[in-house]
Amino acid sequence: PPVPDSAIRGPVLTFTGDPFASSVEETMRYESDAIVAFGDGVITHFGPAEQIQSQLPETVNVRNFGADALITAGFLDSHVHFPQTPMIAAFGEQLLDWLNRYTFPTERKYADKAFAASVAKVFLNECLKNGITTSCVYCTVFPQSVDALFEEAERLGMRMAAGKVLMNRNAPHDLLDTTQSGYDDSKALINKWHNRGRLMYAITPRFAPTSTADQLDSAGALWDEFPDCYMQTHVSENMDEVAWVKELFPDRKGYLDVYDHSKLCRPRAVFGHGIHLTEDELSCMHHTGSAISHCPTSNFFLGSGYLDVYRAKDPKRPVRVGIGTDLGAGTSFSILATLNEAYKAAQLNGKALTAGHAFYVATRGTAHAMYIDDKVGSIAPGMEADLVVLNMKSTPLIDYRMQFADSIHEALFVQMTLGDDRAIQATYIAGKLQYQQASI
Ligand code: GUN
Ligand code: ZN
Repeated sequence: PPVPDSAIRGPVLTFTGDPFASSVEETMRYESDAIVAFGDGVITHFGPAEQIQSQLPETVNVRNFGADALITAGFLDSHVHFPQTPMIAAFGEQLLDWLNRYTFPTERKYADKAFAASVAKVFLNECLKNGITTSCVYCTVFPQSVDALFEEAERLGMRMAAGKVLMNRNAPHDLLDTTQSGYDDSKALINKWHNRGRLMYAITPRFAPTSTADQLDSAGALWDEFPDCYMQTHVSENMDEVAWVKELFPDRKGYLDVYDHSKLCRPRAVFGHGIHLTEDELSCMHHTGSAISHCPTSNFFLGSGYLDVYRAKDPKRPVRVGIGTDLGAGTSFSILATLNEAYKAAQLNGKALTAGHAFYVATRGTAHAMYIDDKVGSIAPGMEADLVVLNMKSTPLIDYRMQFADSIHEALFVQMTLGDDRAIQATYIAGKLQYQQASI
């Protein structure tokens, strides 16, 4: 087994199971003063500080972040568009107009590899600054945009999934591939990148309106050849989109059935949004092991609606749900800010998202949605050492408010409601400090 070479100390929060399936009490573990030790990129020790200290070799330097910190597993983002970083916060319009007016013109620029590489750097740096250690990323139709993202992720040692957008209709001509070229380019990228270090490939049909049935079938066939890849796409985000899919695929039972018919509903399928899915569709997602990525900042920004996360995760037929920033329709890289909006989405459904449920979704829950909860998303020996250290008093207001917080639940709720990138003190990737806030 790996030997520890470094360790960090402070309060620690992690999850041992799914609070939606049982309860927060049974699944949330909080240690007010703990040590997490790691070596060779994996966690070797975790437990109360006094207990672990004596088990560590004397050569291991323990960095103590103090009582105002909180160490958690790195956050995961199950749905994000790195090429949209330069157009975050584009004014006006709902989904379909927003795509035509802002998104497609921006994504054209990624034919230029150097431009793609420059954005990939900014994008992954923002992920680190926000404590995001794993993402499931849309690139563009251009294969070189995938190379750009993976090259930078590999340099940083991050566990990342990404893929080339497949899109052969209903978009500007210079952004289209064909069924054949999309298949060939994706296959070449899989052979180049999938399972290289921590990198994972995601077959990426953008969404049903921009692919012919033939292209969706071809994506399903490619997935048969490489069954441990991901497949990511969008579903039931916006009512006009749902109506358009009905027109484009009149023979299918509904939006999700378009994908299911092309064998795209399986484990490691990550469907963005899923706001307007019917009970039958949620049941299909459950039975096929597919996941929803909940992207509340995007859903509010584009006026798409609000996912009922408790309904999706109904223990009678639970669907896997991860959190997603969905940047550039999403308005923040901050997972804390995203949880704040997830709380409001739940409120509009007449339900309150507890901090325990929210922090679960941001970590282990998204890892579970992506079928990597045996590798990341929680703190335990054997897990990969992707860790984030929060500063629980990151602004004067939060500092003031925290003196009145008398439980960890209240403290976490204050963080997800008021916190942002300023709360991220340090981010470790496979045991390596890759970001630390300048002022600390
Ligand atoms: N549906 C198809 N493409 C996109 C996209 O880029 N962003 C969002 N939010 N929805 C989409
Ligand atoms: Zn999206």
